[in-house]
Amino acid sequence: MGAYKLLVLPGDGIGPEVMAEVAKVIRWFESKRGMAFEITEDLVGGAAYDAHGVPLHDDTMSKALAADAVLLGAVGGPEYDDLDFAVKPERGLLRLRKEMDLYSNLRPAICFDALADFSSLKREVVAGLDILIVRELTSGVYFGEPRGIIDDNEGGRIGVNTQRYTTGEIRRVARSAFELAKRRGGKLCSMEKANVMESGILWREEVQWVGEREYPDIELSHMYADAGSMQLVRWPKQFDVIVTDNLFGDILSDTAAMLTGSLGMLPSASLGEAGENGRPKAMYEPVHGSAPDIAGQGKANPCACVLSLAMALRYSFDEGDEATRIENAVESVLAKGIRTADLLQVENSEPASTTEVGGAIIDALDESLGA
Ligand code: IPM
Ligand code: MG
Repeated sequence: MGAYKLLVLPGDGIGPEVMAEVAKVIRWFESKRGMAFEITEDLVGGAAYDAHGVPLHDDTMSKALAADAVLLGAVGGPEYDDLDFAVKPERGLLRLRKEMDLYSNLRPAICFDALADFSSLKREVVAGLDILIVRELTSGVYFGEPRGIIDDNEGGRIGVNTQRYTTGEIRRVARSAFELAKRRGGKLCSMEKANVMESGILWREEVQWVGEREYPDIELSHMYADAGSMQLVRWPKQFDVIVTDNLFGDILSDTAAMLTGSLGMLPSASLGEAGENGRPKAMYEPVHGSAPDIAGQGKANPCACVLSLAMALRYSFDEGDEATRIENAVESVLAKGIRTADLLQVENSEPASTTEVGGAIIDALDESLGA
């Protein structure tokens, strides 16, 4: 078994800080679990723009395509707000998703017991929550043509984006969601706006088509995305896996994230087709953004990024037990009350720093090996 080839892209804001803690966890797996990683680090987002004038250099794109998996921190920051749309930090991320063809974006929303009181919803609504949003990531209104801002020739302008999905695009992400439902609770809810959008009608029909023919044992339901957003905050535990398009998935996954109490806890995986080695093209990133307001102060919560590494072990390297080891370590650190400021009530004691939480995760990993 060769070394796992990782491209690490720390990016902007708190990205480099949280990624530094992930690097410690990677080194732990090398020294304590006999894994081998071949790590390349590079720039993305504003950091790449500063160095190269583009948010993702072609060389970096090639490295991403050659890696077993990409680990990304975060992109963006206020200093880049006025840049041309084509070179904004976010374009680097979107290029990676598109050119690696990472069509299936897994966004788990898991409420750790120790954090059930942090949600803005009542404890009984969120305690024990474990749902998974599968968001289509390479098509829809994010990429549809025509797009742009054009003159209307009457002194005004028109902003245009196009929501567009093909049968093939819908079926492949649906299959990915059905497969995940099969490994979990056996339930899939598909969300669209078939009441107002033709693309939504096609989405519903194609998901139903895949379900009837290929996954008759999965309990499939359909919901309009607006109703789905309401159900997500009313009683989220009714869901197991949700599959939805790029834009609705962007919004619904932020809602689902807040159910769990903190955006600082949530990892994600973006997966494409399997390559020759059987591994899917893959990128792993925390759901939180670059948090420029706290960047560089040692306040950022590294858990989401560390849990993204766990997802990489599970989905790229078939190391599910080791992924669980990381997840348990994070949970035990939270339970001990070693937490960054985002996870502390105001009256509580001093928050732990980013590196303290990272160190505590390493300690918990050590403990997991027994005395
Ligand atoms: C996300 C983010 C991105 C998106 C941005 C940063 C382009 O919000 O990953 O959810 O809209 O997809
Ligand atoms: Mg988003």
